[in-house]
Amino acid sequence: MRTPMVAGNWKLNGSRESATSLAREVAATPVAGVDVVVCPVSVHTAEVAEVLEGTDVKLGAQNACAHEGGAYTGEVSSTMLAEFGCEYVIIGHSERRSLFGDDNESCAARHQAVMAAGLTSIFCVGETLEDREAGNTMAVVDAQLQAVFDVCGTQAFDGAVIAYEPVWAIGTGVTASPEQAQEVHAHIREFVAAQDQQTAAKLRILYGGSVNAGNAQELFGNTDIDGGLIGGAALKSADFLAVCQAAAAQA
Ligand code: PGA
Repeated sequence: MRTPMVAGNWKLNGSRESATSLAREVAATPVAGVDVVVCPVSVHTAEVAEVLEGTDVKLGAQNACAHEGGAYTGEVSSTMLAEFGCEYVIIGHSERRSLFGDDNESCAARHQAVMAAGLTSIFCVGETLEDREAGNTMAVVDAQLQAVFDVCGTQAFDGAVIAYEPVWAIGTGVTASPEQAQEVHAHIREFVAAQDQQTAAKLRILYGGSVNAGNAQELFGNTDIDGGLIGGAALKSADFLAVCQAAAAQA
Protein backbone atom coordinates (compact mmCIF):
# COMPACT_ATOMS: atom_id res chain seq x y z
CA MET A 1 0.00 0.00 0.00
CA ARG A 2 1.48 3.34 -1.05
CA THR A 3 1.07 6.35 1.25
CA PRO A 4 -0.44 9.19 -0.78
CA MET A 5 1.61 12.32 -1.11
CA VAL A 6 0.76 15.93 -1.87
CA ALA A 7 3.60 18.34 -2.59
CA GLY A 8 3.18 22.08 -2.94
CA ASN A 9 5.46 23.73 -5.49
CA TRP A 10 5.53 27.38 -4.48
CA LYS A 11 7.61 28.33 -7.55
CA LEU A 12 9.00 31.90 -7.51
CA ASN A 13 6.43 33.30 -5.10
CA GLY A 14 6.28 34.79 -1.66
CA SER A 15 8.33 36.82 0.76
CA ARG A 16 10.00 35.75 4.01
CA GLU A 17 6.83 36.83 5.75
CA SER A 18 4.27 35.18 3.44
CA ALA A 19 6.29 31.96 3.06
CA THR A 20 6.53 31.44 6.80
CA SER A 21 2.83 32.25 7.35
CA LEU A 22 1.79 29.85 4.60
CA ALA A 23 3.97 27.11 6.12
CA ARG A 24 2.52 27.84 9.57
CA GLU A 25 -1.05 27.62 8.24
CA VAL A 26 -0.42 24.37 6.40
CA ALA A 27 1.24 22.79 9.43
CA ALA A 28 -1.58 23.87 11.73
CA THR A 29 -3.96 21.29 10.23
CA PRO A 30 -2.36 17.85 10.24
CA VAL A 31 -3.71 15.54 7.52
CA ALA A 32 -3.51 11.92 8.63
CA GLY A 33 -2.37 9.26 6.19
CA VAL A 34 -0.82 11.65 3.65
CA ASP A 35 2.78 12.80 3.24
CA VAL A 36 2.45 16.56 2.90
CA VAL A 37 5.44 18.44 1.47
CA VAL A 38 6.02 22.13 0.74
CA CYS A 39 8.72 23.40 -1.62
CA PRO A 40 9.48 27.09 -1.04
CA VAL A 41 11.96 29.26 -2.93
CA SER A 42 15.46 28.22 -1.80
CA VAL A 43 16.22 31.48 0.03
CA HIS A 44 13.15 30.87 2.20
CA THR A 45 14.24 27.34 3.11
CA ALA A 46 15.82 28.11 6.48
CA GLU A 47 12.89 30.10 7.84
CA VAL A 48 10.28 27.66 6.55
CA ALA A 49 12.30 24.81 8.06
CA GLU A 50 12.12 26.50 11.45
CA VAL A 51 8.34 26.82 11.20
CA LEU A 52 7.95 23.17 10.17
CA GLU A 53 10.20 21.74 12.86
CA GLY A 54 8.27 19.27 14.99
CA THR A 55 5.27 19.23 12.61
CA ASP A 56 4.19 16.53 10.17
CA VAL A 57 4.80 18.70 7.10
CA LYS A 58 7.97 17.90 5.19
CA LEU A 59 10.27 20.32 3.43
CA GLY A 60 11.30 20.18 -0.21
CA ALA A 61 13.20 22.26 -2.75
CA GLN A 62 12.47 23.13 -6.36
CA ASN A 63 15.77 22.05 -7.92
CA ALA A 64 19.29 21.01 -6.99
CA CYS A 65 22.66 20.98 -8.70
CA ALA A 66 24.18 17.79 -10.05
CA HIS A 67 27.38 18.72 -8.21
CA GLU A 68 28.22 18.82 -4.52
CA GLY A 69 30.12 22.06 -4.74
CA GLY A 70 32.57 24.07 -6.81
CA ALA A 71 32.39 26.61 -9.62
CA TYR A 72 28.64 26.38 -10.34
CA THR A 73 27.37 29.93 -9.92
CA GLY A 74 23.73 30.24 -8.97
CA GLU A 75 23.23 26.60 -8.01
CA VAL A 76 22.37 24.93 -4.70
CA SER A 77 23.49 21.40 -3.79
CA SER A 78 21.44 18.62 -2.24
CA THR A 79 23.77 18.43 0.74
CA MET A 80 23.26 22.14 1.40
CA LEU A 81 19.49 21.65 1.24
CA ALA A 82 19.69 18.61 3.52
CA GLU A 83 21.46 20.73 6.13
CA PHE A 84 18.25 22.74 6.46
CA GLY A 85 16.09 19.64 6.82
CA CYS A 86 15.01 19.34 3.19
CA GLU A 87 13.93 15.79 2.40
CA TYR A 88 12.59 16.19 -1.14
CA VAL A 89 13.77 17.93 -4.29
CA ILE A 90 11.70 18.52 -7.42
CA ILE A 91 13.82 17.68 -10.46
CA GLY A 92 13.05 18.30 -14.12
CA HIS A 93 10.00 20.49 -13.67
CA SER A 94 8.74 21.60 -17.09
CA GLU A 95 9.58 25.23 -16.28
CA ARG A 96 13.18 24.19 -15.63
CA ARG A 97 13.21 22.21 -18.87
CA SER A 98 11.57 24.85 -21.08
CA LEU A 99 12.94 28.09 -19.56
CA PHE A 100 16.31 27.20 -18.04
CA GLY A 101 17.75 24.54 -20.31
CA ASP A 102 17.51 21.54 -17.98
CA ASP A 103 17.48 18.68 -20.49
CA ASN A 104 17.01 14.93 -20.09
CA GLU A 105 20.71 14.37 -19.38
CA SER A 106 21.18 17.17 -16.85
CA CYS A 107 17.91 16.23 -15.10
CA ALA A 108 19.18 12.67 -14.81
CA ALA A 109 22.43 13.94 -13.28
CA ARG A 110 20.52 16.14 -10.83
CA HIS A 111 18.28 13.22 -9.89
CA GLN A 112 21.35 11.07 -9.24
CA ALA A 113 22.88 13.73 -6.98
CA VAL A 114 19.66 14.15 -4.99
CA MET A 115 19.33 10.42 -4.36
CA ALA A 116 23.04 10.04 -3.57
CA ALA A 117 22.69 12.74 -0.89
CA GLY A 118 19.92 10.69 0.74
CA LEU A 119 17.09 12.99 -0.32
CA THR A 120 14.07 12.00 -2.37
CA SER A 121 13.80 13.21 -5.94
CA ILE A 122 10.35 14.15 -7.20
CA PHE A 123 11.21 13.59 -10.84
CA CYS A 124 8.90 15.38 -13.28
CA VAL A 125 7.94 14.13 -16.70
CA GLY A 126 5.31 15.22 -19.17
CA GLU A 127 4.51 16.05 -22.76
CA THR A 128 3.65 19.30 -24.51
CA LEU A 129 0.33 19.73 -26.28
CA GLU A 130 2.15 19.33 -29.59
CA ASP A 131 3.59 16.01 -28.40
CA ARG A 132 0.17 14.79 -27.30
CA GLU A 133 -1.53 15.81 -30.52
CA ALA A 134 1.15 14.05 -32.51
CA GLY A 135 0.54 10.87 -30.48
CA ASN A 136 3.96 11.09 -28.86
CA THR A 137 3.00 11.30 -25.17
CA MET A 138 4.36 7.92 -24.12
CA ALA A 139 7.51 8.26 -26.25
CA VAL A 140 8.35 11.62 -24.64
CA VAL A 141 7.76 10.33 -21.11
CA ASP A 142 9.77 7.17 -21.86
CA ALA A 143 12.73 9.22 -23.11
CA GLN A 144 12.63 11.40 -19.97
CA LEU A 145 12.67 8.31 -17.76
CA GLN A 146 15.16 6.35 -19.88
CA ALA A 147 17.73 9.14 -19.50
CA VAL A 148 17.60 8.54 -15.74
CA PHE A 149 17.92 4.76 -16.11
CA ASP A 150 20.90 5.31 -18.41
CA VAL A 151 22.71 7.28 -15.70
CA CYS A 152 21.48 5.57 -12.53
CA GLY A 153 20.77 1.99 -13.59
CA THR A 154 17.73 -0.21 -13.09
CA GLN A 155 17.15 0.95 -9.49
CA ALA A 156 17.05 4.60 -10.55
CA PHE A 157 13.66 5.28 -8.99
CA ASP A 158 14.01 3.07 -5.92
CA GLY A 159 12.75 5.32 -3.12
CA ALA A 160 12.06 8.21 -5.51
CA VAL A 161 8.80 9.83 -6.57
CA ILE A 162 7.73 10.56 -10.15
CA ALA A 163 5.39 13.41 -11.04
CA TYR A 164 3.48 13.24 -14.31
CA GLU A 165 2.77 16.81 -15.33
CA PRO A 166 1.44 17.35 -18.84
CA VAL A 167 2.94 20.70 -19.85
CA TRP A 168 -0.38 21.83 -21.34
CA ALA A 169 -2.07 21.40 -17.96
CA ILE A 170 0.43 23.35 -15.84
CA GLY A 171 -0.94 26.69 -14.70
CA THR A 172 -3.53 26.69 -17.47
CA GLY A 173 -6.67 25.69 -15.58
CA VAL A 174 -6.99 22.79 -18.02
CA THR A 175 -6.38 19.54 -16.21
CA ALA A 176 -5.88 16.12 -17.76
CA SER A 177 -9.01 14.03 -17.43
CA PRO A 178 -8.75 11.28 -14.80
CA GLU A 179 -8.68 8.75 -17.68
CA GLN A 180 -5.87 10.57 -19.52
CA ALA A 181 -3.85 10.85 -16.31
CA GLN A 182 -4.42 7.24 -15.24
CA GLU A 183 -3.40 5.99 -18.69
CA VAL A 184 -0.01 7.72 -18.49
CA HIS A 185 0.50 6.83 -14.82
CA ALA A 186 -0.12 3.14 -15.56
CA HIS A 187 2.30 3.39 -18.47
CA ILE A 188 4.98 4.98 -16.25
CA ARG A 189 4.59 2.21 -13.67
CA GLU A 190 4.94 -0.42 -16.40
CA PHE A 191 7.98 1.31 -17.83
CA VAL A 192 9.64 1.33 -14.41
CA ALA A 193 8.52 -2.28 -13.77
CA ALA A 194 10.33 -3.38 -16.92
CA GLN A 195 13.54 -2.30 -15.12
CA ASP A 196 12.64 -3.29 -11.58
CA GLN A 197 9.28 -4.66 -10.43
CA GLN A 198 9.71 -3.94 -6.73
CA THR A 199 10.55 -0.30 -7.37
CA ALA A 200 7.49 0.05 -9.57
CA ALA A 201 5.13 -1.50 -7.03
CA LYS A 202 6.08 0.94 -4.28
CA LEU A 203 6.71 3.96 -6.54
CA ARG A 204 4.54 6.97 -5.84
CA ILE A 205 3.45 8.66 -9.06
CA LEU A 206 1.94 12.11 -8.51
CA TYR A 207 -0.23 13.96 -10.99
CA GLY A 208 0.39 17.67 -11.52
CA GLY A 209 -1.26 20.30 -13.66
CA SER A 210 -4.12 22.53 -12.50
CA VAL A 211 -5.08 20.31 -9.58
CA ASN A 212 -7.44 22.04 -7.18
CA ALA A 213 -9.95 21.27 -4.45
CA GLY A 214 -12.64 20.64 -7.08
CA ASN A 215 -10.88 18.05 -9.23
CA ALA A 216 -8.40 16.41 -6.82
CA GLN A 217 -10.64 13.63 -5.56
CA GLU A 218 -11.57 12.43 -9.02
CA LEU A 219 -7.92 12.34 -10.07
CA PHE A 220 -6.59 10.74 -6.89
CA GLY A 221 -9.27 8.03 -7.07
CA ASN A 222 -7.35 6.24 -9.83
CA THR A 223 -5.25 3.15 -9.14
CA ASP A 224 -1.93 4.56 -10.28
CA ILE A 225 -2.34 8.15 -9.07
CA ASP A 226 -0.75 8.42 -5.64
CA GLY A 227 -1.28 12.12 -4.99
CA GLY A 228 -0.38 15.42 -6.58
CA LEU A 229 2.23 18.06 -7.27
CA ILE A 230 0.39 21.32 -6.78
CA GLY A 231 1.32 24.79 -8.06
CA GLY A 232 -1.29 27.55 -7.96
CA ALA A 233 -3.53 25.84 -5.42
CA ALA A 234 -0.57 25.39 -3.06
CA LEU A 235 -0.28 29.12 -2.46
CA LYS A 236 -3.44 29.34 -0.34
CA SER A 237 -3.47 27.13 2.72
CA ALA A 238 -7.21 26.39 2.56
CA ASP A 239 -6.98 25.27 -1.09
CA PHE A 240 -3.86 23.23 -0.48
CA LEU A 241 -5.28 21.56 2.62
CA ALA A 242 -8.44 20.69 0.70
CA VAL A 243 -6.29 18.91 -1.89
CA CYS A 244 -4.45 17.11 0.93
CA GLN A 245 -7.82 16.02 2.38
CA ALA A 246 -8.82 14.66 -1.02
CA ALA A 247 -5.68 12.52 -0.98
CA ALA A 248 -6.46 11.40 2.58
CA ALA A 249 -9.87 10.23 1.43
CA GLN A 250 -8.07 7.72 -0.85
CA ALA A 251 -5.63 6.52 1.80
P1 PGA B 1 -0.31 24.19 -11.31
O1 PGA B 1 1.26 23.83 -11.31
O2 PGA B 1 -0.94 23.38 -10.22
O3 PGA B 1 -0.37 25.65 -11.05
O4 PGA B 1 -0.83 23.82 -12.66
C1 PGA B 1 1.70 22.53 -11.10
C2 PGA B 1 3.20 22.49 -11.18
O5 PGA B 1 3.78 23.26 -11.94
O6 PGA B 1 3.85 21.70 -10.47
